[in-house]
Amino acid sequence: MTFDALKPQIEELFSNKRHLLKLDDCLLQVCKILHENVPHYDWVGFYFKNGNKNELKLGPYVGEPTDHTIIPFGKGICGQVAVSNKNFVVPDVSAQDNYIACSITVKAEIVIPIFVNGKNVGQIDIDSNTPDPFTEEDERFLEFVCETVAKILS
Ligand code: SME
Repeated sequence: MTFDALKPQIEELFSNKRHLLKLDDCLLQVCKILHENVPHYDWVGFYFKNGNKNELKLGPYVGEPTDHTIIPFGKGICGQVAVSNKNFVVPDVSAQDNYIACSITVKAEIVIPIFVNGKNVGQIDIDSNTPDPFTEEDERFLEFVCETVAKILS
């Protein structure tokens, strides 16, 4: 399914069904839609700033369970995005020094921050078992997903 075809599914989740689903259920549905429809998305999850602490806490996700439920700011790809406020596309995780491995099958990763009122409150994190699979189309699509999620967080 194309990214353009997936966008309405994401939007619908947050408009029509928002009153029926709790926030975490909504976020889990997002993970499921992305995981089921995009072949190169093998692990899809959300991390959010953990209260006042300078660390990320794992939110809803789909894929193999991870030990990394808390990630300090600055650590790994996710922790770096918490500090840089920028998208981070990693075509080859083995080439990264500051990387936290979750599974040996993962070849690439993309992390897109979520902004609420200009503040970086969390991120969507996607792992791929395919080498170098992410394009600018993934970035634009995932920015759309994060903007849609941000609307109900504000
Ligand atoms: N690889 C991430 C850690 C989170 S897992 O991918 C679920 C990182 O380096 O921050």
